[in-house]
Amino acid sequence: MKALEGVKILDFTHVQSGPTCTQLLGWFGADVIKVERPGVGDATRKQLVDVPGADSLYFTMLNHNKRSLTLNTKTEEGKQVLERLVKECDVMVENFAPGALDRMGFGWERIQELNPRMIMASVKGFGPGPYEDCKVYENVAQCAGGSASTTGFLDGPPLVTGSQIGDSGTGLHLAFGIMTALYHREKSGRGQKVLAPMQDGVLNLCRVKLRDQQRLKAGPLREYSQFGEGIEFGEATPRAGNDSGGGQPGRILKCKGWESDPNAYTYFITQAAVWQKICDVIGKTEWKEDADFATPDARLPRLNEVFGAIEEWTMTKTKFEVMDICNPLDIPVGPILSMKELAEEPSLRATGTIVEVEHPERGSYLTVGCPVKLSDSPVEVVRSPLLGEHSEEVLEQLGYSADEIISMREAGAI
Ligand code: COA
Repeated sequence: MKALEGVKILDFTHVQSGPTCTQLLGWFGADVIKVERPGVGDATRKQLVDVPGADSLYFTMLNHNKRSLTLNTKTEEGKQVLERLVKECDVMVENFAPGALDRMGFGWERIQELNPRMIMASVKGFGPGPYEDCKVYENVAQCAGGSASTTGFLDGPPLVTGSQIGDSGTGLHLAFGIMTALYHREKSGRGQKVLAPMQDGVLNLCRVKLRDQQRLKAGPLREYSQFGEGIEFGEATPRAGNDSGGGQPGRILKCKGWESDPNAYTYFITQAAVWQKICDVIGKTEWKEDADFATPDARLPRLNEVFGAIEEWTMTKTKFEVMDICNPLDIPVGPILSMKELAEEPSLRATGTIVEVEHPERGSYLTVGCPVKLSDSPVEVVRSPLLGEHSEEVLEQLGYSADEIISMREAGAI
């Protein structure tokens, strides 16, 4: 039995943030019924298309382990089906633009009337406040949540990251909120509203940067490279390139082949506990006793010199050789792995984190499986549904007869 078996999810999500959340719930065994507009479906089905006529990878990779029900919720028949779904399901998840659910006639008041045990979970761009009515996409959230202002190099513009912390990150936060509300319902018997604003989710992930904002009052941030470079700090947490965000200085350093391979780099952390071993490995044994380098505090103003010397050594090795030499010595390093390398990594396939999936329209494709492993609830990744693939099945389970389903189809409700 899967962990969430028996939990029914009315999945009103689209694009990335909401689908990430409901996909997770599906992986853990919930019955996820994805409601989509007839003939149209989730907009991502037809975005970034690589195989003409088939659902895109954008869609398929975010919608595994779900059933698709097409339903025009703006028709009378569609509203009636939706009402039945609300009464039957445990959780409704949505990430429409602000106000869309109210306009559809299914705001929180109505949902509670229909099913007081319902947990209604929403992703919105912003929480209550001046921007609550705004539509938001990933990069807007990265910018408004503090990530962009703290990502990039000091002398360059703010940068967005490749990790979809606004969308997928908020989807994870929402899933956590849903699980908490389900647990609470066991005791209270009542559902509740769960809101995960994207700005708040990104800020949560940028927690250490707000930490640094407050530390600025106590003086310059000595572990930032700009401190050693003599560059003054301004009023806000600055961009810090590839400096580590914690108390153990680190950098991305060139490795053998960097001239032609854009990913021939390693992350190298000068953890204080292994400093002596680092000195041995890079051939700087004299730094072990040198007062300018022997202690973490003494090294902080000299990080460019420290990492310059380490890079002279890493440039003589491939990123994997650096790993092979440093790991047995407990020196924390990590190769910069490309998507190609990750896709081909056997250990990720063995654990089910990279999965090959068969799809009737597109053949086989790779996806990222569930990154969280439960020993008693293993995940089996099931391909994403075709548009409306389960409409009849879901409607029959809701008690509709074959004739009623035909007439709904004729009326354009499904
Ligand atoms: N039947 C009938 N109508 C449907 C429907 C269905 N099954 N599903 C959706 N619709 C309607 C909605 O009711 C809405 O109609 P309305 O504007 O007349 O009220 C309309 O489709 C469009 O929905 P909306 O959410 O506004 O989509 P959009 O494409 O205009 O905006 C986003 C997309 C992502 C910008 C917006 O949904 C949003 O800001 N969401 C919250 C934040 C978020 O999750 N962003 C990240 C996305 S990855």
